[in-house]
Amino acid sequence: LTDQGLGLYYDRLTRFTAWARPIGLGGGRRHLTVHRALADPRHEGRATVTRLHDLLFEVLSPLAPVRALDAGCGLGGTMIDLARRCDGTFTGLTLSERQAAIARRAIARAALTPRIEVLVGTYDAPPRARFDVVYAVESLAHSPNPARTLNALTARLAAGGTFVVVDDMPEPAARASPDLAAFMAGWQVPMLLSGEDYTDGLARAGLSLIAAHDLSEGLRRRHRASLAALATLGRWLARLTPGASQRALIDSYRGGLALERLYRDGLMRYRLLVARKPHA
Ligand SMILES: C[S@@+](CC[C@H](N)C(=O)[O-])C[C@H]1O[C@@H](n2cnc3c(N)ncnc32)[C@H](O)[C@@H]1O
Repeated sequence: LTDQGLGLYYDRLTRFTAWARPIGLGGGRRHLTVHRALADPRHEGRATVTRLHDLLFEVLSPLAPVRALDAGCGLGGTMIDLARRCDGTFTGLTLSERQAAIARRAIARAALTPRIEVLVGTYDAPPRARFDVVYAVESLAHSPNPARTLNALTARLAAGGTFVVVDDMPEPAARASPDLAAFMAGWQVPMLLSGEDYTDGLARAGLSLIAAHDLSEGLRRRHRASLAALATLGRWLARLTPGASQRALIDSYRGGLALERLYRDGLMRYRLLVARKPHA
């Protein structure tokens, strides 16, 4: 997909989650997030979408007041949560006009407009500013050229600045699984870097890896039988769905189930990597 196509994909997904929220399919919509929930020790191990914010906060808080870039900010929930906890300014980038509009409204409601701006544009051409932290949560997977993206984002980091990526990273054996192809097609992922690829890519962009966390164990695991039943439902929905735009949503749903199977089979890891740009 082109950037414009991906923007429209997220426009549709955003409309869908608003509609589906009352029936429990809204994902992290209530917290204005589009990322995975993780087992949260602050909520007796129940999965929350804010667990990831706690982990990001640990990285950001020593750097406050921080100038942060959220590369692929979705509905802005992560920036809003972090801005409430941490002094500084936030710039968010998304390809979706609809996500940006929702984020801006929520930022205004939270009286955070002076500290958070949302721009519609690509992380391959980030705004010409210096950031102490650049973070990307489940967004770099959409990059058709991760090396270019890493270089573009690193170029905007101040000397000594911190880069954080959170994403799905396949194990080598996943390449042979049809689930990997189904996940990538359904979620508009053109190529997917493994943990090792990221380590190399970050080094090539001039960053040193300073921490790597495997968060996979905190992801919700559904039983094989429920996944199989949901996959059957997905197949039926795909057959019955007439329009291309609805089909993209069904493919996304089926891609999500393929991703769950990859985790269940130990073929995918959900990692948080922290890297640092050297001081000049
Ligand atoms: C799965 S959502 C994650 C959103 C957010 N990080 C969160 O955790 O809620 C992926 C986001 O990446 C953004 N994205 C994908 N490709 C992008 C690009 N080339 N430039 C900027 N944003 C991009 C999409 O617009 C979307 O907002």
